[in-house]
Amino acid sequence: MFVLGIESSCDETGVALVEAGERGLPRLAAHALHSQIAMHQAYGGVVPELASRDHIRRVLPLAESVFAQAGQRLSDVDVVAYTRGPGLAGALLVGAGVACALGAALGRPVLGVHHLEGHLLSPFLSADPPEFPFVALLVSGGHTQLMRVDGVGRYELLGETIDDAAGEAFDKSAKLLGLPYPGGPWLAKLAEAGDPAAFKLPRPLLHSGDLDFSFAGLKTAVLTQAKKLGDELASRKSDLAASTQAAIVEVLLKKSIGAIEQTGLDRLVVAGGVGANRSLREQLDAACARRGVRVHYPELHLCTDNGAMIAMAGAMRLQSGIQRPTERYAFDVKPRWPLASLNAEPEPA
Ligand code: KG4
Ligand code: ZN
Repeated sequence: MFVLGIESSCDETGVALVEAGERGLPRLAAHALHSQIAMHQAYGGVVPELASRDHIRRVLPLAESVFAQAGQRLSDVDVVAYTRGPGLAGALLVGAGVACALGAALGRPVLGVHHLEGHLLSPFLSADPPEFPFVALLVSGGHTQLMRVDGVGRYELLGETIDDAAGEAFDKSAKLLGLPYPGGPWLAKLAEAGDPAAFKLPRPLLHSGDLDFSFAGLKTAVLTQAKKLGDELASRKSDLAASTQAAIVEVLLKKSIGAIEQTGLDRLVVAGGVGANRSLREQLDAACARRGVRVHYPELHLCTDNGAMIAMAGAMRLQSGIQRPTERYAFDVKPRWPLASLNAEPEPA
């Protein structure tokens, strides 16, 4: 069975083809990605209208490239999976519209996939895939959550951010330091040359005793520190970047270990764009090794948004039998869609 996956929830257009048997993990046949980052950079953030228009331009050429790479044809597709939410409504509508049009034209069913489930299952595309159950740390530009994952579609929310996401904390702090959008990778790069102990920045909710996060106060603290430095800021940027990264990573680390202790599980999966952060990876690896916990990451290039994770999540949902694809092509999208609600409301056939 070939599952085509289409991702268009924010500022990357992704298309991928996976092949799934009845058992065993689906295999990635090919994927193609176009990032709109350069287009949005001039505005300091994603402009939704521009994002939607660019998805329209990119999606079909990307699909053609996927079929050429895989040596398959459009008519080989058995199911078309697409990101149904959460994300920007207009951007989601492009992927949903194209998926449903392809499905209707080919006479093949379609399947709406949850974007975060895509991130969560993306480590199954790696050479060292995890096994269920595991604790998942989902850290993206829009979400910061700890989940207990017992299987496909069996997600229990253990804790989440009460305000900004970790990626947002990286991006907003980076903006204050004059770095381009999205600032996470830029701030991480700058931090390599800095002293993480140079400035004392807050670690919100570090000792709250639960698994929730709060990052909104951090950017204010970074702003205050930057103002205090005045002219000196130019020569201390890497120190401030390193201190900011250290604050975010320490909270993510402490809460992840808290989730492992609370659940008693011995496997951790880290997914979402911030999962590409090297300092986070090094510290999680070290802390988990001491506890005999295995850590799994998606391949570095599949940490941020892509079509492969959507095709994979679609294929795994089909394989596990928890969702049947539909031949009703009157699509809708869910810009806001809690992941844990997937347990409660399996998709209708
Ligand atoms: O998962 P993702 O591609 O998109 C969402 O679904 O939000 O995550 C994007 C986020 C951005 O905030 C970006 O700055 C952050 O991931 N990010 C990083 C790194 N690479 C991407 N943050 C810190 N360090 C990185 N190396
Ligand atoms: Zn994402």
